Amino acid sequence: MKKTHAFAGLVLSTALLGAGLANAFAADETLRSLADKNGIYIGAILNSQWFSGGLPGNYEQIHKQQFNIVVAENEMKFDATEPQEGRFNYNNGDKMVKYAKQNGMRVRGHALAWHSQVPGWVNNYKNDKKKLLAVLKNHIEKVVSHWKGQVAEWDVVNEAISNNEPQWRTGSVWYQGIGPEFIDSAFVWTHAVDPDAELCYNDYNLEQGINPKAKAGFLLEQVKRWVANGIPIHCVGSQTHVEDTTTDKHFIGSPDSLRSLAKELAKLNVKLKITELDIGFKSGINVSQRDLQRQGQTFRQYLDIILEEPNADTYLIWGVSDKWSWLGGLNRQKGLIYDDNLKPKPAFDSILVRLQTYEPPKDTAKKDTVVQDSSKKDSTKKDTTDAIKPFIAPSSLSLHVAGRTLFVTGFTSKTAKVDIFDMQGRPVFSTENNKGVFDLTTIAEGLYVVRVQSGFSNLTQKVSIK
Ligand code: XIL
Repeated sequence: MKKTHAFAGLVLSTALLGAGLANAFAADETLRSLADKNGIYIGAILNSQWFSGGLPGNYEQIHKQQFNIVVAENEMKFDATEPQEGRFNYNNGDKMVKYAKQNGMRVRGHALAWHSQVPGWVNNYKNDKKKLLAVLKNHIEKVVSHWKGQVAEWDVVNEAISNNEPQWRTGSVWYQGIGPEFIDSAFVWTHAVDPDAELCYNDYNLEQGINPKAKAGFLLEQVKRWVANGIPIHCVGSQTHVEDTTTDKHFIGSPDSLRSLAKELAKLNVKLKITELDIGFKSGINVSQRDLQRQGQTFRQYLDIILEEPNADTYLIWGVSDKWSWLGGLNRQKGLIYDDNLKPKPAFDSILVRLQTYEPPKDTAKKDTVVQDSSKKDSTKKDTTDAIKPFIAPSSLSLHVAGRTLFVTGFTSKTAKVDIFDMQGRPVFSTENNKGVFDLTTIAEGLYVVRVQSGFSNLTQKVSIK
């Protein structure tokens, strides 16, 4: 490892002297070929302008040469896919899926349940819980089944946590109309339609610590609950829209904080992905070459998390060139890895060198679970990670519900303890006996999570009580 770092340092100081780093390595080495070698996904959005043919040819050339995963900037969002109630438009999304297939890229779907970019007609139902549930369920079912087997991972829920204090984002139309159970339901519905897709919760400001006062701390508690309840969540997407350290006076985010989130998620068998990275400078300031080099270092530090943490596999940048970037609206500039003329910036070099010099420790688990060479196989297909499998503890226990009776078999210890939770994780029933037969007449109709414990074995399963 030491040798690796020394080498990277040497090469980087060459860059400071002005030598084009991209030329220092074999010409055919791209971010993509090196990402393949390292067993990770590296990508950038397809900007909205691409869909209407409004970008120069070398944009697409660069995009397919350098990246092995793709996501649409706006084209798979709710307002794009269901602009009018019940009328779906998949044209642009299809265009991207075709492009990904032709170029052997993995497809990320963004985003199913989000408070933003929701068409006006949804708001007509804002006080009608039943209708809103039906609207969201129908939207998810139609969109996910349309791209089933083609979209390898979905942002099922985007930005559901408030930015100011750790609690749900209460202003969201879904939260107001349905309550927090829209989140659990969205995951369950998506999984039911495409059990092979990886399902993520995606949000920003997750690089600001994991203490309970921080957004990631609140999220972590929710992920624990989802996992305990068998809600099919497989990944957390950290958008990672951050500002350069020297101009952000309130800077509290850091790659180290994000790494600690990755480590906590690993304990829950949940992945961390960086899904929307940009590292902008304040608009209007003069950005020097030195600033761009520091920016490159920060890009590299975030990449290190993806390379080094076994449960992290994706590094996605929210744009290709500074010329087509949403950052202006955030009062930021120059946050990407290609400049206005589509020339690679120091950040590109920094990423390239890191991928070039990284030496994985022996026996890393992740290398088997992600694509090895995306150009040689259809990487839009799901990799080997099994949905919800990790959350079911191995045991001989089994359970089934018949009418209002729960039967538990296969318990080896004297008794079996049964706990039943509603979909929000609230306990509704708890008892223990040695017969394995439990009367459920006191429980209202609905979807529940049953947990059975007996000795060291336990089993968690969703059941519908009718
Ligand atoms: C942004 C797009 O880049 C813009 O073109 C659009 O006007 C607004 O949305 N978090 C997300 C992304 O999850 O969908 C957002 O994308 C950026 C912030």
